[in-house]
Formats: sequence, C-alpha cells, structure tokens
Amino acid sequence: MTTLFDPLKVGQYELKNRVVMAPLTRMRADADGVPTDIMVEHYAQRASAGLVVAEGTFPTVVSRGYVNEPGLATDEQAAGWGRVADAVHERDGLFFIQIMHAGRLVHPALTEGQQGEAPSAIAPGQPIHIPGGKEETPEPRALELDELPRVRDEFVAAAAAPWTPVWTVWNCTAPTATCCSSS
Ligand SMILES: Cc1cc2nc3c(=O)[nH]c(=O)nc-3n(C[C@H](O)[C@H](O)[C@H](O)COP(=O)(O)O)c2cc1C
Repeated sequence: MTTLFDPLKVGQYELKNRVVMAPLTRMRADADGVPTDIMVEHYAQRASAGLVVAEGTFPTVVSRGYVNEPGLATDEQAAGWGRVADAVHERDGLFFIQIMHAGRLVHPALTEGQQGEAPSAIAPGQPIHIPGGKEETPEPRALELDELPRVRDEFVAAAAAPWTPVWTVWNCTAPTATCCSSS
C-alpha cells in the first residue's frame, strides 16, 4: 500500500515523500526584501518534506504587497534566496519559490511610490499593512492588454535569478508562478 512516506515522481522531480509544504507568507525578509537568517533556518527546518513551496515572492517592486515580503527583483534578494535554497539542499530537500504579483493589493509605501497595476482600476476597499501601521489601498491603474507580455517577462526574469531556477510553473488562476532551484 502506498503511504505518505513513499516517494513520488512529479514531472522531472523525485519527491522523497508525499508531504508538500504550502506557500506561507511569513514577512521575515529585511526592509529591502532580502531573505534573512531566520528564513534560512525556517526553511531548513522543513527540508524533510518531499517538497517545500516557499512563500509568495515579488518579481518587481510594483508587485510587492507585504511589509518584509521577500523579493526576486535584485541580485541581493536572489542571493538571499540562494542561501535558503542551499540550506534546504544540504538537508536533501527540494525547494520551489512562489513568484507572486500582488496586483491591486499594494500600497505606494511598499512600491516606492508607484501606483499599483491590476486587471481593473478598482480599489480593493481594504487596508493593508505598511511600515508603521495600516492604510487603505489606493485605486490601481488598469493594465492594458499589450502590457501583459511585459508582466510575463518580469515573472520570467525573476525565475531566471542568478542562483538559477530550472523550472517554472504558471498558475492560471492567479498572477503567481512557482520556480524551483536546481539542487
Ligand atoms: C499565514 C498564511 C500565509 C499564507 N501565504 C500564502 C502565500 O504566500 N501564497 C499562497 O499561495 N498561499 C498562501 N497562504 C495560503 C495557504 O498556502 C493555504 O492556506 C494552504 O495551502 C491550505 O489551503 P486551504 O486554505 O485551501 O486549506 C497562506 C496562508 C496562511 C494562513
């Protein structure tokens, strides 16, 4: 009988067991979106899962939706994720990162003043956390159809960060993608 602890082949990957960690935003990066030591520890502790899917990670500053969310928009952020991936790999784990665009759920305090970009110019009507408190999210700008290739390319660029992911999966229901590191 197959059990939770039996291996599983998913595409090109061999999971050592069938436990998959869901992406969980922890807001533990530094103020510049660089993964921190505590994130290295957090993911290393969970490396015994068959697959660890790391938290939503912004590909561009305009897509950053959380205070202390990690990014994949700069070399420093990518290098920080590289340290996390190395720690998971050292424990024989498999590690994916979820690339996440927060759409209209952003605030200029998180996007270096940029207006949010989203499918429609409709404000969410809900406050979000910003450094030092909570504020209402302003109305985003509606993306034009001809901008979608640029948004796609930003996901691809994040997935091609220097520590070298090898596979990208697009999630069709939300503007997120998951990429994984080579082990
Ligand atoms: C604190 C917290 C943070 C979360 N962060 C993310 C995230 O970064 N990306 C994502 O896709 N889902 C996120 N989720 C959703 C979880 O992955 C989801 O709750 C989990 O897969 C269980 O699925 P269920 O809620 O349908 O039972 C988060 C959930 C919680 C409670």
